[in-house]
Amino acid sequence: MSQDYSVVNFDKLTCAGNLASLDSVASNPHYTFIKSDICDPVAVEMTMAGCQTVVHFAAESHVDRSIYDPAPMIETNATGTFVLLQIARKLNIEKFAHLSTDEVYGDMEPGTFAGEYSLPQPSSPYSASKASSDLIVRPYVRTFGLPAIITRASNNYGPFQFPEKFLPLTIASALDDKPLPIYGDGKQERNWLHVQDHCRGIFAVLERGRIGEVYNIGGADVVENLTMARRLLRATGKPQSLISHVADRPGHDRRYALNCEKIQRELGWKPTISLDDGLRQTIEWHRSYTKWLTEVRGGHYRTYYQKYYENRGSSLHAITESGRKPTSYLAQAIPQPRKATTYSPRTIVLFLCGKNAPRKPQAARTIRHRQRRLLHRSLGDQIPAAITRLRRNPRFVFQQRRSHESGSPACQLGARFHAELAQ
Ligand code: DAU
Repeated sequence: MSQDYSVVNFDKLTCAGNLASLDSVASNPHYTFIKSDICDPVAVEMTMAGCQTVVHFAAESHVDRSIYDPAPMIETNATGTFVLLQIARKLNIEKFAHLSTDEVYGDMEPGTFAGEYSLPQPSSPYSASKASSDLIVRPYVRTFGLPAIITRASNNYGPFQFPEKFLPLTIASALDDKPLPIYGDGKQERNWLHVQDHCRGIFAVLERGRIGEVYNIGGADVVENLTMARRLLRATGKPQSLISHVADRPGHDRRYALNCEKIQRELGWKPTISLDDGLRQTIEWHRSYTKWLTEVRGGHYRTYYQKYYENRGSSLHAITESGRKPTSYLAQAIPQPRKATTYSPRTIVLFLCGKNAPRKPQAARTIRHRQRRLLHRSLGDQIPAAITRLRRNPRFVFQQRRSHESGSPACQLGARFHAELAQ
């Protein structure tokens, strides 16, 4: 990590997040980790205070999961972005990069490429939530003057990618001599971008990008899934017979492809890692990181794999047939009416929002409270380092205040900070 930057990594560590991927930077003095949720404004504000730049990578990012359960997508990707923007605005953040995706452009016609001004036409709950977040960023630039920039990247691949995405899943399956699941006819096309090229693109945008602009960041190659699977089997020395066509993803987009002339012309960025080299390195990485792979493919991943692959027919049936039940916590939180109401055949229901709207269910509040306690515990660990940094700042002046020991965890944390600073 460059000595010029200090990085605070704020992550909820949901299914795809994994601290073991960050071992190499964990003890770097320029790096701090905070486990929390971008939907929690208190946690976000406490973390963002004192930072100059925000890079908003946080997202529920898997299309298949969004089809089975859209609620976390909308919550994290749309509401979470709103929370970050509000706090960034309040704290006068100097630059805010919002990382979006080529999926917001939806299905491209054969042979065409999406430019930054192509219309958002999302197809899945995931891409709709990302398109929504892009739209939420725009008024923060135009109306509130927040210095934000949006990037839209194509399909990433490389080391440490969670094996729910196509490339790590197929590489891991091939190395284990297991079938490679290909959705539908496998003729869908994706635009592959090595993660290091993506990171260089983000740096270029942060350093030289124009405020309020959108920049596409795409790889040089647009490849059919089936062709990619065949290529991986050749590269791993495994038989082509491992290819296994499975039921298609509902609403599956056929083609994503980005036109990246703008970032090349304005910022001089273009991908540097060829698909051949990138795939070779990624396969090598999978061969050497077997411990990491075994760990991430245990526990919850087993259940995920069973539901999405081994029992694909029945689980897809449950969401595509009429009478399907939403599976999210939001759906469960809605109290069922005590008595079923019988409506006449032409009834219109009006949903109105007012002061007496039902409050959040107790369970949700308890979870938030627990989450916040956890955050305060981990923030508490950061106090000595924060004080050392403050004392090094020549402009820092300490003013003694009367402190309160009681109150919310946030007050207690503040009081502890104050007391340690006063020593
Ligand atoms: O394009 C950028 C997007 O790329 C990101 O915004 C998303 O977060 C990321 O998940 C990815 O979306 P895709 O749906 O394109 O990626 P995924 O790896 O899930 O699938 C790539 C293609 O491979 C897609 O056409 C579906 C297909 N596929 C995927 C899986 C997981 C299969 O045929 N079999 C599989 O098992």
